[in-house]
Amino acid sequence: MNPLTLATLRLMGDGAFHSGEEVAAALGVTRATIWNAVREAGELGIEVESVRGRGYRLDDPPVWLDAAAVAKLLGPRARRFHVEVVEHVDSTNSALLKRAEAGGAPGTVLAAELQSAGRGRRGRSWASGLGGALTFSLLWRFEQGAAALTGLSLVVGIAVARALASLGAADVRLKWPNDILHQGRKLGGILIEVRGDALGPTAAVIGIGLNVRMPPALEARIDQPVTDAVQAGAGGDRNRLLAAVLQELAELLDAFARDGFAPLEPEYRRWHALQDAPVLVNLGDGKPVRGHARGTADDGALIVETSEGVRRFHGGEVSLRAVSGEG
Ligand code: BTN
Repeated sequence: MNPLTLATLRLMGDGAFHSGEEVAAALGVTRATIWNAVREAGELGIEVESVRGRGYRLDDPPVWLDAAAVAKLLGPRARRFHVEVVEHVDSTNSALLKRAEAGGAPGTVLAAELQSAGRGRRGRSWASGLGGALTFSLLWRFEQGAAALTGLSLVVGIAVARALASLGAADVRLKWPNDILHQGRKLGGILIEVRGDALGPTAAVIGIGLNVRMPPALEARIDQPVTDAVQAGAGGDRNRLLAAVLQELAELLDAFARDGFAPLEPEYRRWHALQDAPVLVNLGDGKPVRGHARGTADDGALIVETSEGVRRFHGGEVSLRAVSGEG
């Protein structure tokens, strides 16, 4: 993304008309450059209204990410985090992993207005529009080894679900291991990457992507039903959303480091969209396992009751889906 694209959009944050000449003069560039910025904004999901003789206007200007606003909303909990906002990065997880390996401080939060190579689970990509999603990663350090962190993504899911609900979202659910759903459509996802020794200590990069205001053109390119925070009722202020998620994470990550996942299992079960539902577990070997989801074990493994007995599945490469039309 050209840095001038964001600068141009920021100048139009009041929702009023601005002539190309005025914006060009304010940024010290030509009108043609502004025209290009407006075109790029459209490609990235922000439609700028253009009226001959009046100029450009943003109908519904996004609330841009603002580290100071997030710190203010966090209040006393702000000291647990160091929030950084960047305009453009390949992937906040990739960037923070490099910092984790170089000794980055726990509590570092990297939030981006736009990711050019956002990553999802199972090697997929994660697409989001400029200003239309909350994409961030949090670096957290644990004394425990990676084996003790298997329930972490479920705990992070609880934090996100609680945060969305606290902002007014109704009918938010989690789908094991780490999808965030609203009315069965995907609102967001979690990608956790862990580095460190088998016995600890470990550094976890907790990546969270939430659709906030999904541009229709982007929605059409995604191969599954999706929704966003605005449709779910949580509003479109990404600073509020980020602060709410961090607030819940501060509490839940402490509890998880101290007591593990087991005490949080009953809450996860309540958020789980497929609790007691008929499911298909895909292990990637062409032989999906059929059964009923029956909660999660102390280590976060999904418990599935099958006709051949109870089986447990760990996150990683497994995918889960509901089987419709069965009791
Ligand atoms: C999934 O559902 O597959 C997980 C999606 C995780 C996306 C987030 S966006 C912020 C962070 N940076 C990334 O590259 N990925 C995660």
